[in-house]
Amino acid sequence: MRTSVGIVGAGPAGLMLARLLRLAGIDCVVLECRDRAYVERRQRAGVLEQGTADALRAAGAGERLDREGLPHDGIELRFGRRRHRVDFPDLTGGRRVTVYAQTEVCKDLIALAETDGPPVLFEAEVLAVEDVDTDAPRIRFRRDGREEVLECAYVAGCDGFHGVCRAAVPAAVSRVHERSYPYAWLGVLADVPPSHDELVYARHDRGFALLSMRSPTVSRLYLQVPEGTKAEEWTDEEIWDELALRLETADDWRLERGPVTQKSVTPMRSYVHEPMRYGRLFLAGDAAHIVPPTGAKGLNLAVGDVVVLARALEHERRTGSTELLDSYSATCLRRVWQAERFSHDMTALLHRDPRAGSFDDRLQLARLDRITTGRSAAADLAEGYTGLPLG
Ligand code: FAD
Ligand code: PHB
Repeated sequence: MRTSVGIVGAGPAGLMLARLLRLAGIDCVVLECRDRAYVERRQRAGVLEQGTADALRAAGAGERLDREGLPHDGIELRFGRRRHRVDFPDLTGGRRVTVYAQTEVCKDLIALAETDGPPVLFEAEVLAVEDVDTDAPRIRFRRDGREEVLECAYVAGCDGFHGVCRAAVPAAVSRVHERSYPYAWLGVLADVPPSHDELVYARHDRGFALLSMRSPTVSRLYLQVPEGTKAEEWTDEEIWDELALRLETADDWRLERGPVTQKSVTPMRSYVHEPMRYGRLFLAGDAAHIVPPTGAKGLNLAVGDVVVLARALEHERRTGSTELLDSYSATCLRRVWQAERFSHDMTALLHRDPRAGSFDDRLQLARLDRITTGRSAAADLAEGYTGLPLG
């Protein structure tokens, strides 16, 4: 099998790249190890930056997003049983975010590929990418129990943090920067209308809590738990009780409870692999970098990377110049490091570090005080949250 661009992974990065290349008339094939139902159901991100929503619209994937996505003009910060709203349009000159689940973004992009191309091969597990430092890279994969090879001019490694593409970069070239956190997130999906109309980020002495949503009838909630916690260790009732404690306010706000339909634990990590390109291999999304979910940046970074990559591949096709492909890594990493900084700061601002002492606690409260009483600190948060234009 042969194509111009071999794309490994059908998460948001791989599917969006496939769509952009299709629109540019560049042929490609997507290889995905999981089945379609799994990819369409995997619960993950929920918040789209304005630039991400605009990029999806420009790619013709905005119809359901505009119908069902929930535009949000702010978030609420809670600490000391008080609530403080951060108003995005006011602080950023008009920017906002959209709550629209990653599952829905993937469904929309898969449906477009199904009617318009390119081919997305599910249950095709990539075993290795080879010869990326030559003009003829090869992707070895297994499908229906048989080994096959996809020959291509370029490989896009969109296979997430646990994929195989990053390993094709020789150790002598790779530089890894990372940070781990001594806590994780226990997330639940529940059939109950969200108890607030905007996302609520709560700092509490017992740990962080987040109230988010998937639709007017489905809530998504998270609790900070110790690293290594298993979801089964918490009963649904214990989760609701803990959420109620951490989200509690001094006024008459109440947390509505409902049936929990999914429960899982997400580890927290910051990670950047440099460079994001080696020879004819281009890493995009979680394959190259991870942020802790507090800043809601992961999916947005994945889309940002492939917008840059699609533009560079199109430029090469049109002009024969590899100039934009050559600057791919540097262009993406500038944005990536801004998101790493923001996600790290949001995480440190709101979580209870078990190693922290009273001095750290007071610093955290002093930072929150500045954000909720001073315009410049609030504007910094609002700009980081709504994101840089994709440019
Ligand atoms: P992935 O979505 O991981 O996709 C990679 C794909 O590659 C997968 O489908 C995988 O099956 C496939 N694959 C892997 N190995 C192989 C192989 N060998 N062969 C073939 N296919 C392979 N981000 C936000 O922007 N906002 C949020 O609100 C947010 N919240 C989050 C909440 C949680 C609980 C979690 C876990 C993440 C959250 N994120 C959020 C992060 C976001 O989900 C990820 O950054 C995003 O999924 C990255 O997309 P991707 O396409 O790079 O990788
Ligand atoms: C989510 O809805 O899954 C979500 C929202 C905001 C975050 C992280 C996750 O910061």
